[in-house]
Amino acid sequence: NMKSSTCTAPVNIAVIKYWGKRDEELILPTNSSLSVTLGQDQLRAKTTVAIDPSFTEDRMWLNGKEQSMKSARLRNVLREIRNKVRKRKADDETLSWKVHICSENNFPTAAGLASSAAGYACLVFTLSKLFHVDGDISSIARQGSGSACRSVYGGFVKWVMGTQKDGADSIAVQVAPASHWPELRTLILVVSDQKKHTSSTEGMQTTVNTSQLFPRRLLGMEEKMEQMEKSINEKDFHSFAELTMKDSNQLHSVCLDTYPPISYMKDVSHQIVRMVHCLNSICERNIVAYTFDAGPNACLYLLEKDVPRVLSLVTTFFPPKDNNMEKFIQGLPVDVL
Ligand code: DP6
Repeated sequence: NMKSSTCTAPVNIAVIKYWGKRDEELILPTNSSLSVTLGQDQLRAKTTVAIDPSFTEDRMWLNGKEQSMKSARLRNVLREIRNKVRKRKADDETLSWKVHICSENNFPTAAGLASSAAGYACLVFTLSKLFHVDGDISSIARQGSGSACRSVYGGFVKWVMGTQKDGADSIAVQVAPASHWPELRTLILVVSDQKKHTSSTEGMQTTVNTSQLFPRRLLGMEEKMEQMEKSINEKDFHSFAELTMKDSNQLHSVCLDTYPPISYMKDVSHQIVRMVHCLNSICERNIVAYTFDAGPNACLYLLEKDVPRVLSLVTTFFPPKDNNMEKFIQGLPVDVL
């Protein structure tokens, strides 16, 4: 009787960042955000879910280690999927079947490499296939981890913050498929794959509660979202890069303005920032953009034609052996799911 399904979902890296919740339980954000989903064969999560009438409890393994099912987010996601099944058919026999979930990442967990985004997107997508749930699933993925709702789609994806109290309009929407801008590349510079010291969940909570600059950031977000969408639609890399770098800098500024302060970037991260600005100024236009999430690793966005010269500059400035830059990962955004 056992049924199972296996899917993969890639990481997404925001160019306009999500930072702050207006509802902790439903995971509703204080601003809209926009990201690029990487290709399926790059950084990704892979999840198998099995259901069987003989299973006695819901269980989950992450990278081979059994996890507690006490996590409210995990339970919320399962509840939401089962609610959808119930709505379709109140007496569906699979409703009483327990699930066994087995998930793995092909990159370090919690090193600020958006593993929870890929993980929850993948889990929700796999569950939706197994239970034949259709319609929007981004609002369910969102309840696992906010940024996960954007990994449900490929290419350029925005998470519209929404205004409704129940979160019904806080969903992910594809702005453009990856094929719209096939020359765009990502290059991830792994400064450290150590676990981050402050989780994004906790960090953004403290920012909302203590940063005086944070309300100022929120005032400018809708305009930034519009400008970012325009630069993507027009494939205007120069302005795409400027908006991306400025938003990353602003995110890390409100983190420093948080009390006690949060600093995710390391010395090497700041050196990467200087290198990028130096290169862009020599070129007299932006040919590369950096962005940093809740960790020290840099994600560079650039165009395919500039990959060789940027890579050679990176390896000259940061020879992998002489500092903490352990490896480079090149990503190609493609359409997924
Ligand atoms: C800096 O989605 O990990 O990567 O919703 O609490 O799980 P929770 O937070 P999470 O936060 C991601 C923050 C970010 C910016 C972004 O991806 O937009």
